Amino acid sequence: MFNRALVKVLPAVPRGVVRRVASQYIAGDSLGDAVRVVRALNTAGKLATVDVLGEEVGTAAEAAAFAAEYRAVLERIGAERLDANVSVKLTALGLELGYDLCRENLESVVSAAAERGSFVRIDMEDSTTTDATLALQRALRGAGYENVGVVLQSRLRRSLADTSGLDNVRLCKGIYLEPAEIAHQRDDEVRASFLACLDALLAQGSYVAVATHDEHLIGESLWRIRARGLSRDEYELQMLLGVRAERADELVREGHRLRVYVPYGTHWYEYSLRRLQENPRIAGYVAADTLRRVGRRKDQKGAPGPDSSS
Ligand code: FDA
Repeated sequence: MFNRALVKVLPAVPRGVVRRVASQYIAGDSLGDAVRVVRALNTAGKLATVDVLGEEVGTAAEAAAFAAEYRAVLERIGAERLDANVSVKLTALGLELGYDLCRENLESVVSAAAERGSFVRIDMEDSTTTDATLALQRALRGAGYENVGVVLQSRLRRSLADTSGLDNVRLCKGIYLEPAEIAHQRDDEVRASFLACLDALLAQGSYVAVATHDEHLIGESLWRIRARGLSRDEYELQMLLGVRAERADELVREGHRLRVYVPYGTHWYEYSLRRLQENPRIAGYVAADTLRRVGRRKDQKGAPGPDSSS
């Protein structure tokens, strides 16, 4: 209850506090920071997908700059021989400025990835973008790029139907709050929908990236994967940087391919808020941080100033 109330007021939490408590989820400000994190993950037997933080750009120049940054990421991944691909948000590549502009930017990233034998995952944003996201992925596949895949959100009622014909899918619950007409609201419904989508994808032979930290879903998904006799390279598990890292280590030791989502960049605020919403310990973290700040302010007020020394 307290957590839910806190989620509502999260936007009122000072940015400095958000930054501090959300730092576990972000590699850092620069590509160099992301490279260091990815190298450490690779050394620990994990794969990575690199995300340049940012969404909903306002100008074509900003969208082009995001595409250029992604091409730089792909070049660096290749040069450093990292086991990583990239995840993009279409609103950062200009989706809200126009379909064609976004397609051009996306194609430049997907084509740079194809030249290097790499892969581009298109993150799924809120439901206003679902149709365009699926359409753009289909368009690029139609143009001959096989190294691009989308994300389905089991929270959305439409997702089961959307599985049809999709070849390489990251399956997750979906972070965006959506109305009941289009989205399941109860946790048990979201979980049941996740497994129904997974069944449908596996039945049609799609490669699936199972992206969840939910122990129930990890267990049920692995049971289904084993029942179908899939080998190690026919599926993968995915987790977010800073979440359940020890469980990720265990899954790697058990022999699964596991990919960690590694965001970096200076536009960290929106992503951080979304991660904080989901952290079961968020109330404690924010309360402790707020108390620390209040305490500091009191100390400063109580401290003898230059005029009070005599
Ligand atoms: P759930 O939220 O129930 O978490 C299960 C347990 O994991 C919690 O009880 C807690 O222990 C731990 N946990 C989860 N989040 C935590 C946090 N932030 N801090 C600390 N502990 C935490 N969504 C989307 O809409 N579009 C997308 O493209 C993506 N992409 C994506 C990629 C990858 C690799 C992952 C893992 C997730 C996404 N998501 C996403 C987010 C996803 O939709 C979902 O919001 C989160 O994964 C949380 O849901 P879980 O399935 O992990 O379950």
